[in-house]
Amino acid sequence: MPLVNTKEMFKKAYEGGYAIGAFNVNDMEIVQGIIDACKKNNAPVILQVSASARKYARHGYLLALVKAAEEETGLPIALHLDHGPDFETCKACIDGGFTSVMIDGSHLPFEENIALTKKVVDYAHQFGVTVEGELGQLAGVEDEVNVSAEDASYTNPDQVEEFVKKTGVDSLAIAIGTSHGAFKFKPGQKPQLRFDILEEVSRRLPGFPIVLHGASSVSQEHIAIVNKFGGKMNDAIGIPEEMLREASSMAVCKINIDSDLRLALTAGIRRHFAEHPEHFDPRQYLGEGRNEIEAVVTNKLINVLGCAGKA
Ligand code: G3H
Ligand code: 13P
Ligand code: ZN
Repeated sequence: MPLVNTKEMFKKAYEGGYAIGAFNVNDMEIVQGIIDACKKNNAPVILQVSASARKYARHGYLLALVKAAEEETGLPIALHLDHGPDFETCKACIDGGFTSVMIDGSHLPFEENIALTKKVVDYAHQFGVTVEGELGQLAGVEDEVNVSAEDASYTNPDQVEEFVKKTGVDSLAIAIGTSHGAFKFKPGQKPQLRFDILEEVSRRLPGFPIVLHGASSVSQEHIAIVNKFGGKMNDAIGIPEEMLREASSMAVCKINIDSDLRLALTAGIRRHFAEHPEHFDPRQYLGEGRNEIEAVVTNKLINVLGCAGKA
């Protein structure tokens, strides 16, 4: 099967009460760690590339890796642009083999967000490429744009119908209290998500796929490994898994995970260096990082997203 867009995946996920994992990829080990878990668990998957990942690894290399993953496994795999910053980047990805793009106009005034998103949708749909829009800003770091917690805002449910109708987007990312990065809550702060907003949004958009960004759980086991072996990541806190399970059973069809993969890779590599100081073959330490990613993704597919066996 060629790379797919997200249409069919989201329809099945919505109806089945589960979510698809959208994992950020930056290099071969990350792609393979994710794909090995999806292959063993027969799970559909979205591999997503941010603008800075595209700059780092380069478009053609990432495209070839993702195509190789599809050829090897035959799984439904979508290649998605994460946080597309402008029309030109979205167009380059659409023209260059991506099957899905996000245009992130969440920082713009409402009408400008609509105009930009519609422009991308009109172009993408000519080629069967699906488009994700965003309403409401998350805190944290998105592609070199740093949104402070004070500037972040929840999605206003009053705006969602107009936004979806006027733009024609295929899915909508909303802000309900998640945030990007590994430090999502202050120490002592109780993690909370605004499920009331999610419910209200889905009441207004029946059957419409919702996307959750900033949804890493930040494994405390990985934090402990990183800190034990020379790292310094105190007070890193993520979204509890049970909250993500709850969201997956509701209208959320796509859950974005990047930080948990970075953490897994870093923990695996740090541990490897500490336990084998004589090693200098990248296959040894990157291999351990890749295994750590596979384990994290396996847990997500089975225990968080509920998409194992759904390919
Ligand atoms: O939402 C942002 C993603 O984690 C991508 O981050 O721009 O550093 O690749 P990046
Ligand atoms: P995390 O930083 O929580 O992994 O979020 C990733 C994300 O939203 C990518 O778009
Ligand atoms: Zn994001």
